[in-house]
Amino acid sequence: MNTNYLGIVIFTIFCCPVRAEVSITQGLSYDDVLLTPKHSTVSSRKLVSTQTRLTKNILLSNPLVSANMDTITEATMAIAMAQHGGIGIIHRFNSIERQVEEVEKVKRFRSAKIDCPLTISPDATVADVRELMEEKGASGFLVANEDRILLGILTQRDIRFRPSLETLVSDLMTPREKLIVGSPDIAIHDAKKLLMEHRIEKLPLVHDDGTIAGLITSKDIYIKAEYPYASVDAQGRLLVGAAIGVNDDYLDRAAALIKAGVDVLVIDIAHGDSVLAVDTTRQLKKLFPDVDVIAGNVATAEGTRRLIEAGADAVKVGVGPGSICTTRIVTGCGFPQLSAVINCAQEANKYDIPIIADGGIKQSGDITKAIAAGASTVMLGSILAGTDESPGVPFTKNGKKFKIVRGMASFVTNLNRKDKKGKKTDYVPEGVEAMTPYKGPAAETINQLLGGLRSGMSYCGVTELNDLRGNGDFVQITAAGIRESHAHDVSELA
Ligand code: XMP
Repeated sequence: MNTNYLGIVIFTIFCCPVRAEVSITQGLSYDDVLLTPKHSTVSSRKLVSTQTRLTKNILLSNPLVSANMDTITEATMAIAMAQHGGIGIIHRFNSIERQVEEVEKVKRFRSAKIDCPLTISPDATVADVRELMEEKGASGFLVANEDRILLGILTQRDIRFRPSLETLVSDLMTPREKLIVGSPDIAIHDAKKLLMEHRIEKLPLVHDDGTIAGLITSKDIYIKAEYPYASVDAQGRLLVGAAIGVNDDYLDRAAALIKAGVDVLVIDIAHGDSVLAVDTTRQLKKLFPDVDVIAGNVATAEGTRRLIEAGADAVKVGVGPGSICTTRIVTGCGFPQLSAVINCAQEANKYDIPIIADGGIKQSGDITKAIAAGASTVMLGSILAGTDESPGVPFTKNGKKFKIVRGMASFVTNLNRKDKKGKKTDYVPEGVEAMTPYKGPAAETINQLLGGLRSGMSYCGVTELNDLRGNGDFVQITAAGIRESHAHDVSELA
């Protein structure tokens, strides 16, 4: 053999990397399958339990989680979700202070007893009161001096007739001597009696030395009775999550959110099977071991394992299934969501870690399919976007009402994106801005989704969500099957 040729052969064998083989696998989406109906012993869908785990340590009454998007979840949506037994994740596309305020609004909304009620000085003005009401989403304040001695109460009623903005709180408040107060250890049923007897809305609790010990409100007692399945913490406050990134101020943000009482942190990064996401998960669990961390987003078993081994208390699954996502089109990468959930859930099951199926839920049947595929909860974006509780106001187009929903990687969201030196950067969007029909109160959508899920559980012959989880008996359908599944050969009225 010619020595030149021999050299080329040796070079090729030892120096060129071995080419990995192209692989191709089948992936299915929610629309590709149906669940095979099973014998059911369920006599009423009211009897089925939708209780499930959000994370290793957090239990919810239902599997609905509102997405950490700036057109979906701020305090109002998070409150609605938690009141109905799910949870909302406050988005991170604002300052740390703003995000903390949103968390505080949720934590303050309902509690058996407010331990540290908001106070205002008697020397504050009506202008100060209005500003604080707006900022904190509060309807009134206890009036106190610097030593937190109770001096009175000021509520919205006291400023109803629009006194001048310079009027002092001390001139408008109901003074201490006219207030009905309770002792710090008063039982809730005794507090309820006092509130009813005296027809008052707020019962301040005071220590013997006159300092504030807490506050019980009739709203809290009433709301508690109306929403018996609400997601609450040990102190009776609504549960809430918040998102953080993996760069810049993310650790300060995490610390501030935890101080504000957040129950779970969500690492918000599009490609969760990355060194950045894995390192952030490990770092958060080391710095804040008492707070559950949801990591994501991934679409493979390997990605799931890496995040769990880094300490994730739940893993969020979904690369590109979202209604406003263009990741799959722009990058060519992604994995059909049903198969992604099956693959990731099978891996997570080995570690007893819950999976959140994030994106692509178009109707209630998709939730049943996601759970049957192995998810413990589902994250919802655009399906909630048209409701009253999503940020933003409705607008009218061609006589119909709409609201805006937009991808967090869309051009509009990132219009002012700057690099570390403050210079504007070129941005390749992986999401779109869109409009979605206005839907009224979120409660209606939530009830429709849960009603559909309960019916789905009955068709699958289970009474507990946990018995459906990962036990789906799926049948793959064809285009004809999809057509048959929808209303067909009729003209719909609406
Ligand atoms: P749905 O289908 O419920 O999906 O509206 C919500 C989920 O979509 C993800 N998301 C994005 N994905 N580009 C993407 O590829 C984006 O701009 C974008 N914004 C949100 C996210 O996981 C969310 O929960």
